[in-house]
Amino acid sequence: MDANAKKRLAAQASLEFIPPGTTLGVGTGSTVNQLVELLPDIRDRIDQVVSSSRATTRLLEQQGFEVLTLNEAGAIDVYIDGADEATKRLHLIKGGGGALTREKVLAGAARRFVCIVDDSKLVGMLGEFPLPIEVIPMAQEFVAGKLVKLRGRPVWREDFVTDNGNHILDVHGLQIGNPIELESRLNQIPGIVTVGIFAQRPADVLLIAGDDGVREIRA
Ligand code: 5RP
Repeated sequence: MDANAKKRLAAQASLEFIPPGTTLGVGTGSTVNQLVELLPDIRDRIDQVVSSSRATTRLLEQQGFEVLTLNEAGAIDVYIDGADEATKRLHLIKGGGGALTREKVLAGAARRFVCIVDDSKLVGMLGEFPLPIEVIPMAQEFVAGKLVKLRGRPVWREDFVTDNGNHILDVHGLQIGNPIELESRLNQIPGIVTVGIFAQRPADVLLIAGDDGVREIRA
């Protein structure tokens, strides 16, 4: 089975986590795009929709959904999103698509966070995927210097501006043995808007699609 078919399978499995009357948060990326294509089939179960990026909003609107802001919707019942790396402890690296800040806000606002991945994303330790960090543009070099002191190799994502008008540093060479601690430490650096480690608010459910079907890990 190719990666796209696995992403479709994971997206399909996540529909079970959307009961009638749901205020749904929708993430960003190719896995979530598959979910968006499936949502019209369960339209009657979805009360309100909130999106984590302009790209996802566009796709949702193409499917006929009215997209609310988080301020309008209030709380989110279920947030469904992909990841760049995931561990069995449900810690994640996210931000490959650059939407990490709004994704982290929606995950934080959600009663339940369901993460959907194909099995290539499951790792023993986070960090092989370069860690995305959203920074305020004027602080980029300052933050990069701090990351070098932590033995990371930050690389500016050229020609990319986030939905919030900021830049992304992709940090190579980190072996993230303690994601909760590193997320906390990086959050202290002035100029960092969002760190792509999702460990302090991990997923509640991880759906991993492989050749043998979808495996589920719960917190
Ligand atoms: C976007 C993200 C995505 O969830 C992550 O990059 C996974 O994307 P894909 O489903 O395309 O592999 O964090 O900011």
